[in-house]
Amino acid sequence: MSQIQNNSFYYFLCNPGSEKFLKEEIRLIYPELVFAYSTEGFVTFKETRPLGKTLRPVFCRHFGRFIKRGSLEEVSAGIGSHLYYSLQGEIFKTHPYKNGDWVKEIIKVSETQYYLGEFKASLLTAPSAGGFSTATLPEIAPSRAYLKVIDGLNYMGVNLPANDYALEIGSSPGGATYALLEMGLRVEGIDPGEMSPVCLEHPKFIHHRQSIQDFHVSSLKDHVQWLYVDMNLPPEGSLREIEKVVDAIRPTLKGAFITLKMTKFELVSRVPMYLNIMGKMGLKVVMATQLPSHKQEFLVYAE
Ligand SMILES: C[S@@+](CC[C@H](N)C(=O)[O-])C[C@H]1O[C@@H](n2cnc3c(N)ncnc32)[C@H](O)[C@@H]1O
Repeated sequence: MSQIQNNSFYYFLCNPGSEKFLKEEIRLIYPELVFAYSTEGFVTFKETRPLGKTLRPVFCRHFGRFIKRGSLEEVSAGIGSHLYYSLQGEIFKTHPYKNGDWVKEIIKVSETQYYLGEFKASLLTAPSAGGFSTATLPEIAPSRAYLKVIDGLNYMGVNLPANDYALEIGSSPGGATYALLEMGLRVEGIDPGEMSPVCLEHPKFIHHRQSIQDFHVSSLKDHVQWLYVDMNLPPEGSLREIEKVVDAIRPTLKGAFITLKMTKFELVSRVPMYLNIMGKMGLKVVMATQLPSHKQEFLVYAE
């Protein structure tokens, strides 16, 4: 028998290993939600009193409202068009949807347990089933960070025009830079580490082989329109070090994709502060989310 319940449960899809960050974030920021159930990459909460703010934790790729759970037959009876995928990323059924659409989805949580849920598509929810990546990593890409660029653009619905100018801070070995060069952008990278030849030998790439602390913004060759940041530093360090750059490039900046690493669990409580710091730099934070290509980190997209 399927268990039909009221709509007061929410489910969240996160990358395996991030469940503890998500639970802590919800505990701190959405006390109206009380933890109910969790398995790898999937966490549910019961709404015990009405949510006082827009729901969108950073440590998830996607979320929705629980309708019912049971066998596949039980949850799929008479529901019409829907998405259907497993927690491991197998996409069994999908269809295009646009912002504003109410979308139903079946999530295969185990061999016997299927969840039926729904979400109103928006920037807050994933652009593809389960928030799994629709990109593949080309063999030639110097690192998996290639996927972070593609997934980030897909998630935010942003297109980078060819010949626009991008700066990447923390660019070695070059997966992200390679993705940007492939899209026709001109790129400058700052990183004391070596860049892969596929980037170094590209006519549209310039490497500043130094740390951001030693970099002088006057060395930038053009007006930066897109900023990428992906340094393996604690978030405080990354944000502190990019401030002088953001200050210098703000007049021409169209968008910033900033990856912040959760170097320790205790940092979860500081996430709102990180977003605030970006606001104080003059950046308008549009969205903060986990991407399918992330490990223990999240993306802040700001304009
Ligand atoms: C996760 S890797 C970046 C991957 C890269 N974005 C790619 O696409 O392949 C982190 C990088 O941050 C760089 N990094 C760490 N501290 C830095 C600093 N202070 N200034 C510049 N780069 C730094 C490291 O050298 C390392 O290459």
